[in-house]
Amino acid sequence: MDEAARVADADEVVEGETLLFTVRDDEGDLGEAFLTRLSDGSVVAYRNYCQHWTDVRLDKGDGARVTDGEVWCQKHGATFQLDSGYCDFGPCEGSVLETVGVTVEDGGVYVDDGEYAFEHLGPGGVDDGDGGGSRIDFTGS
Ligand code: FES
Repeated sequence: MDEAARVADADEVVEGETLLFTVRDDEGDLGEAFLTRLSDGSVVAYRNYCQHWTDVRLDKGDGARVTDGEVWCQKHGATFQLDSGYCDFGPCEGSVLETVGVTVEDGGVYVDDGEYAFEHLGPGGVDDGDGGGSRIDFTGS
């Protein structure tokens, strides 16, 4: 794999936690995503926004709330199954988180997605390409 696509060492991605990173889409815009590990040991990644209010981040920079294989939106309590991204409770029930393709290889996790390229570890969805401000609310609301 291309080392520029390496997000983290595979052993940094643990079950019950999320690891925030930034991607650049094929139009050059930045956005956030997070990695997590499933109970079967596989690693998945999703874009870091709720399907109810898309300006609400699931991982606000210090890890999302994850319990029993589900990630919670702390705004209104929606829960999303981490193995599928499916929302099984809350105001956006029936919706699905947006996947970011990743591959685990040689002890690392790599972005492997035709639409997204790895940008850097940590937050950063501030470049929305329209010359305006951030579409990500860093106040935690
Ligand atoms: S913003 Fe996530 S449940 Fe409402």
